Amino acid sequence: MHNMKIIFIGFMGSGKSSLTKLLGEKMQLPTYEMDTMIVEKSGLASIPEIFRQRGETSFRDLETEVAKDISKLNEGVISSGGGVVTKEETMKYLKQGSILIYLTAPFATIAKRIGKDTNRPLFQDTHKAQELFTKRQSLYAKYADFVVSTNDQTKQQVLEKILERIK
Ligand code: S3P
Repeated sequence: MHNMKIIFIGFMGSGKSSLTKLLGEKMQLPTYEMDTMIVEKSGLASIPEIFRQRGETSFRDLETEVAKDISKLNEGVISSGGGVVTKEETMKYLKQGSILIYLTAPFATIAKRIGKDTNRPLFQDTHKAQELFTKRQSLYAKYADFVVSTNDQTKQQVLEKILERIK
């Protein structure tokens, strides 16, 4: 199953990073974390640093650049950032030659998984995060090739479902 490019989309805490690792191992494909690539490109130390020193708009521009780099890959499993769907240009790059899998979970599950995480500037206030969550649902759905729920099941079970869909 080579020459496949699979990109996970979904809200923060939906399981994109975990499933990227699992699927990459299973399919023996290289894995990429957009957030890590953004931090590397920025020359700064972390995502909160980028938000603090340069603001969200600059962060989104870096994200678009990383999406462009990803559009040139022939294969791999990629974990995107939860906000990629807010910018059409970013999604234009991410859609190129790839399968977009939308991982879902109810907000309560997500909030429980994330807990207190100082590395996520847009998840510092639960109420605001919930609003963002609600606002983004239709965007993830719009871009997704298919949707997989991660609620109330193990990562292995989710992995099996994904393998079923892409084989
Ligand atoms: C963001 C999600 C984060 C990260 C940044 C902004 C968002 O990625 O890109 O903090 O706007 O939802 P994860 O989805 O990996 O947490």
